[in-house]
Amino acid sequence: MYKIAILASGNGSNAEEIIKTIPSFGDFQVELLISNNSNSIALKRAESYNIATAIFSKEEFSTTEKPLQLIKEKSIDAVILAGFLLLVPESIVTQFPTINIHPALLPKFGGKGMYGNRVHQAVIDAKELESGITIHTVDREYDKGEILLQAKCPVKADDTPLTLAQRVHELEYKYFTKTIANYLLSLT
Ligand code: GRF
Repeated sequence: MYKIAILASGNGSNAEEIIKTIPSFGDFQVELLISNNSNSIALKRAESYNIATAIFSKEEFSTTEKPLQLIKEKSIDAVILAGFLLLVPESIVTQFPTINIHPALLPKFGGKGMYGNRVHQAVIDAKELESGITIHTVDREYDKGEILLQAKCPVKADDTPLTLAQRVHELEYKYFTKTIANYLLSLT
């Protein structure tokens, strides 16, 4: 059994999609969902599937080994970032395969502070004709690492961050779990 921990800060729709669908791609199971935000809907979604949850503050993430210890205690094999807004401790990134999803076509529209609707607004402001998703391994820096998959969608003339986000979310649900599974299987 390949055990997965998800880190999520917000709504957690990608987290739920992974929880629901990853067992159909192999011997995978989401064992743990960690958030830095006690109001995160992602926590409630995980609880509804009887998945263990934990909350650590920004400070605990940046100055303690508590998240790493919990991940080790739960015998986690891989860490998935699904809308996680903090920098992941280097000790986690270097000891576990770690995968992130970014709601745009990196290397454009990435880096610190580029998350959520800010990304979609920046894409619209730049008058891009296409946006999409980038699924990548996580290095010591934000939005760096090996690109595992990119998928594109059009940006329409009348798009708002909300309408563009919806189109990007469809790509996320279609490709994220499958790409995680393929990558983890390629490591075994
Ligand atoms: C997604 O757009 C993802 O690409 C980005 O954060 C968003 C999270 O959405 N990293 P949700 O919390 O999974 O609904």
